[in-house]
Amino acid sequence: MTEIPTKSPVAKSELRRAQSDTWVYFEGELCRYGDAHLGLLTHALHYGTGCFEGIRAYWSERQHRINVFRMPDHFARMSGNARMLHMELPHGVDELCDITVEVMRRNDFRTDVYIRPLVFKATEEIGIRFHNLRDGFMIVPVPFGAYVDTTGGIRCQVSSWRRIDDNVAPARSKATGIYINSALAKTEAFLNGFDEAILMTQDGHVCEGSAENLFILRRGQLITPPASENIVEGITRSVLMQFATDELGVEVVERTIDRSELYVADEVLLCGTGAEVSAVIEIDQRTIGSGSPGPLTRKLQDLYFAACKGEDDRYASWLTPIT
Ligand SMILES: Cc1ncc(COP(=O)(O)O)c(C=O)c1O
Repeated sequence: MTEIPTKSPVAKSELRRAQSDTWVYFEGELCRYGDAHLGLLTHALHYGTGCFEGIRAYWSERQHRINVFRMPDHFARMSGNARMLHMELPHGVDELCDITVEVMRRNDFRTDVYIRPLVFKATEEIGIRFHNLRDGFMIVPVPFGAYVDTTGGIRCQVSSWRRIDDNVAPARSKATGIYINSALAKTEAFLNGFDEAILMTQDGHVCEGSAENLFILRRGQLITPPASENIVEGITRSVLMQFATDELGVEVVERTIDRSELYVADEVLLCGTGAEVSAVIEIDQRTIGSGSPGPLTRKLQDLYFAACKGEDDRYASWLTPIT
């Protein structure tokens, strides 16, 4: 008979121990990550019936503290997304911010952190639906560096997977189940030797990266697909639009983008909370612009990192300090 392996008692790595000791918010309480447990039949695990946010917090050497970036905006978006998916957040935006501050205080991190709130169908039951199931909720912080290269630029592939259409499942919702679409595209790109995937919409227009919004610079305009093109309405996207208009005097245009426009763009960039601001220097074996991060992308990166790292006091209101 095949021997069934049992859980090994070998010592966990330092990383795992650190994660296990991390303070999280789970089912209405603060507890250690290692003490929070979910049952095998948890609905969201089987059917993708959850909805998440991704929030970044940056360690500021100058201020000697961590600041959470645009936190109320993330929870406000999450609240709408949860409603869309027949779920409800257990607290209002202000309270969720307060809880997150407490989670961060307890952990006393001295590094950049990614904060993952998740609302999900927690009932341990078979049956595909949203109704008559209990909502669970967690906030889990994870020490986190760069998600993609933000220095030298990245190489992308136009994916053979189309972006989910809003009439298939709400594309803007950050529903967990929808991310199978992103995961397929990302892995396809990785296995083909690229850093990231760019997905097209069902009708063949440029949509976004696997977890990032997309901009191109063409004929002096910074162009990005509109909200109606099945994108996630990114908070980083809106920040960059504001920077381009207010700080750099660059015209921002929201319109559909053709695939071939990617190849002739002067600059292409991807942006998101995880990915931050990343220059795309090659798409489908075609060099973009000069083949290195372009001047506008560099300027947007500088403004973005200065704002989120607490180095630009004009944007201090975007930060929630952890004191
Ligand atoms: C599919 C997708 N597009 C775009 C974004 C960018 O959104 P934000 O800038 O709000 O993080 C995300 C968020 O991570 C995402 O998952």
